Amino acid sequence: MKNIVILISGGGSNMAAIVRAAQRDNWRERFGARVAAVVSNRADAGGLAFAREQGIATEVVDHKAFPSREAFDEALAAAIDSHQPALVVLAGFMRILTPGFVARYQGRLLNIHPSLLPAFPGLHTHQRAIEAGCKFHGATVHQVTAELDYGPILEQAVVPVLPHDTPEALAARVLTQEHQIYPRAVAELLPAL
Ligand code: GAR
Repeated sequence: MKNIVILISGGGSNMAAIVRAAQRDNWRERFGARVAAVVSNRADAGGLAFAREQGIATEVVDHKAFPSREAFDEALAAAIDSHQPALVVLAGFMRILTPGFVARYQGRLLNIHPSLLPAFPGLHTHQRAIEAGCKFHGATVHQVTAELDYGPILEQAVVPVLPHDTPEALAARVLTQEHQIYPRAVAELLPAL
């Protein structure tokens, strides 16, 4: 079985979209794959309840309990590896990962970022896109490399930036598209794993 481990920090709507796609499109039969675990750095991440309701194993590795990024990433990797992952999926996981962690999962570590990379790496992407006067904005699924919000692009979705858009309205428009492209990118990668 190809185990998918999804990392979240918050609401987990992208994680839920992947879980629902796996059920709807029968990833177990088609790819021999399943979402085996959801791991969060925050015990209060809203998405954990959804995962538990779906009967998916959940783990919390609280970054505040560790003295360094390296120590946190070691514990995080141990939690992930206990589920023998074929693929590790960052879905709104808001911690910067060490080069050692990224190297450990090279080629099987995905991220979704709420901008049309390479534009607007980092935080506050929707506000920055509005301030820059962008006419289009979107989201990117990419392989994770040591450089933040970089790495080979697998999928992108484009949305218009409307007159008088707020960061919140634009974020919601982008998020709807994220829920389409992330499950699709994962499904396209699974046969090769
Ligand atoms: C998503 O918009 C995702 O692209 C973004 O956080 C949101 C998480 O939503 N990720 C980042 O900003 C990563 N730097 P979700 O928890 O509902 O999936």
